[in-house]
Amino acid sequence: MNKPKPLISAILNLNLHPKPLFSNPIHLMALTQTRTTHSDPPQNDAEDDVLCSNPEQTQEEQPSSPSLDETPSFVGSPGKYLTGVSRFERAWAHWTKLGRPKLIVAPMVDNSELPFRMLCRKYGAEAAYTPMLHSRIFNENPKYRSEEFTTCKEDRPLFVQFCANDPDILLEAARRVESHCDYVDINFGCPQRIARRGYYGAFLMDNLPLVKSLVEKLALNLNVPVSCKIRVFPKLEDTLKYAKMLEDAGCSLLAVHGRTRDEKDGKKFRADWNAIKAVKNELRIPVLANGNIRHMDDVRNCLEETGADGVLSAETLLENPALFAGFRTSNWVADNEKDSIDGKLDQADLVVQYLKLCEKHPVPWRMIRSHVHKMLGDWFRVQPQVREELNAQSRLTFEFLYGLVDQLRELGVQVPLHQKHDASATGNLAEVIGI
Ligand SMILES: Cc1cc2nc3c(=O)[nH]c(=O)nc-3n(C[C@H](O)[C@H](O)[C@H](O)COP(=O)(O)O)c2cc1C
Repeated sequence: MNKPKPLISAILNLNLHPKPLFSNPIHLMALTQTRTTHSDPPQNDAEDDVLCSNPEQTQEEQPSSPSLDETPSFVGSPGKYLTGVSRFERAWAHWTKLGRPKLIVAPMVDNSELPFRMLCRKYGAEAAYTPMLHSRIFNENPKYRSEEFTTCKEDRPLFVQFCANDPDILLEAARRVESHCDYVDINFGCPQRIARRGYYGAFLMDNLPLVKSLVEKLALNLNVPVSCKIRVFPKLEDTLKYAKMLEDAGCSLLAVHGRTRDEKDGKKFRADWNAIKAVKNELRIPVLANGNIRHMDDVRNCLEETGADGVLSAETLLENPALFAGFRTSNWVADNEKDSIDGKLDQADLVVQYLKLCEKHPVPWRMIRSHVHKMLGDWFRVQPQVREELNAQSRLTFEFLYGLVDQLRELGVQVPLHQKHDASATGNLAEVIGI
């Protein structure tokens, strides 16, 4: 087995503010550092938690490196968000400049990384979120930064999401990425135990003054707008007050996941589109809907029912990254539509395309492993021993993974993706939603 080579860091740390924000020289040093590198990942770590490498790449050729020439997209003076109607106009002008994207890849830890985002963009996604990044670790650990956040010129519009519970730490992290994204997003929706322990995500719903201070800090000091992703409260009036508070604090775009903090299982609990609709009606900034988006009919229905400005999809995209191009897996096809097989694309094709993107944009193997499992889940159910072979590999290689796809095909596995023969089949959103 070849020892992986180090991945050249993709993070450029720019300080675009006219005056330094931090008087602390350590902070200043971190902010003005232009490039970080890291050494070989430790070989005795969790076996698959290593980086894939491309020995051909030089530092200059590293495709994931953002360009130094990029200028921030939302330049203005600090404090611009907090007064007057023009704040809403600015929020809308920014959204319009980005083309008012409607089909959006939701943030997913270990799963909405650069190659996956690029695959979804190829199949109709109009914008994407990074996985949630931990703001303190992002500031402190160059290896974490270079492994967990990579981007490239084509990876726009882009939301970079952080979790945080300290406004200064959040700002420091946000300033490292602001020139490489279109929004810095704050995660107020994570309901997992790890978020309870770390006191972030949906657990900050118990401390709204802290939430407010996090949003204000970014809105007052960043050159890109701040967006937030929230869950709903059990009571609608609490959700509306919460959303209004975020808007007043300087949030320029709000994504609403229509499930409560306790409704963790997306398969068990339907997202409440009525609550999202009420938030949309209450606010003056763009609002995105999240939950129950499994195919293009859901997109159309959600946009119609909620009036939201776009939709986020997560779990279904993992199985079917071509969702936004109108493709659907057979569980979302009625019996009388079973002849609607497109035949041009299946999940094995998508895995091959994803692997090629990973060769171009290196990411940790654990992410690649996770995507292969999710995209080929139905295929493995037909030939479970192929899944076992994958599980038995403590170290993955591209050669092995391409071979795995060939093996499934040679065994005769065929799990087609379907397209409905109407506007939603083509993913032509203008037609789908009648605009
Ligand atoms: C694997 C996975 C990782 C996720 N990670 C994040 C995250 O980093 N940040 C976040 O705000 N939400 C995260 N979520 C939640 C999704 O963004 C989304 O809100 C949720 O899955 C509901 O959307 P869906 O019904 O389309 O799955 C994650 C979901 C999944 C399935």
